[in-house]
Amino acid sequence: MKSNIMNVHKISIAIDGPAGAGKSTIAKLIAKTMNLTYIDTGAMYRAITFKILRDHVDLSNEATLIDLLRHTKIDIVNGDILLDNSLITDKLRTPEINQYVSKVAQISVIREKMVELQQHIAMNRSVIMDGRDIGTTVLPNATYKFFITASIEERAQRRYNELCIKGFDQDLLEVQAEIEKRDKLDTERTISPLRKDENAILVDTTGLSIQEVTDKILSYIK
Ligand code: DC
Repeated sequence: MKSNIMNVHKISIAIDGPAGAGKSTIAKLIAKTMNLTYIDTGAMYRAITFKILRDHVDLSNEATLIDLLRHTKIDIVNGDILLDNSLITDKLRTPEINQYVSKVAQISVIREKMVELQQHIAMNRSVIMDGRDIGTTVLPNATYKFFITASIEERAQRRYNELCIKGFDQDLLEVQAEIEKRDKLDTERTISPLRKDENAILVDTTGLSIQEVTDKILSYIK
């Protein structure tokens, strides 16, 4: 579990797992409790997907994508996402982005750029970062690694509730099918697929409250 404690002043926590497992909610709480910078890497893939959809960018043209990345600025400020200096946090969790983001996240030039940005952010500060490849690729020497999961039914229900609160009229079974499709794409892609790192602690959150999961993770850290 403790794969790197060379720098005692700086710690990094990697949280990976499938969609709807509760990673971001839990990571935010731990960040607050431990005074760490929280980095939602899924939001970064969502931000670039937002721009690709908005600007009708051709995903099959690598040169266009490289040019797009060169002219794209993604910043995380106090948990908010800024795309080219505009706040877009509220525009990232829509059914349309849910549908496309895993396809965008499969593309190597996009992953390379996002990983570079994520490693840069983590370089000089203590972070908790959530995503799919944090323990395996982005922070292979993270101080602590967790892999958070839950049953597909519970994950679908959580995402469904989240979308309802935002006013999106969705069908629960459709949400479940979309999550299953995304998990399959994320798990089966060639470059840094969703995978539990061998040193990560597995946490199944099925039937547990947010507080119970947070306490469980904090008990491993303390
Ligand atoms: O965590 P999320 O649902 O917001 O992530 C959105 C998508 O981004 C997810 O389906 C896969 C991709 N992703 C990724 O490939 N690697 C990460 N580190 C984070 C997210």
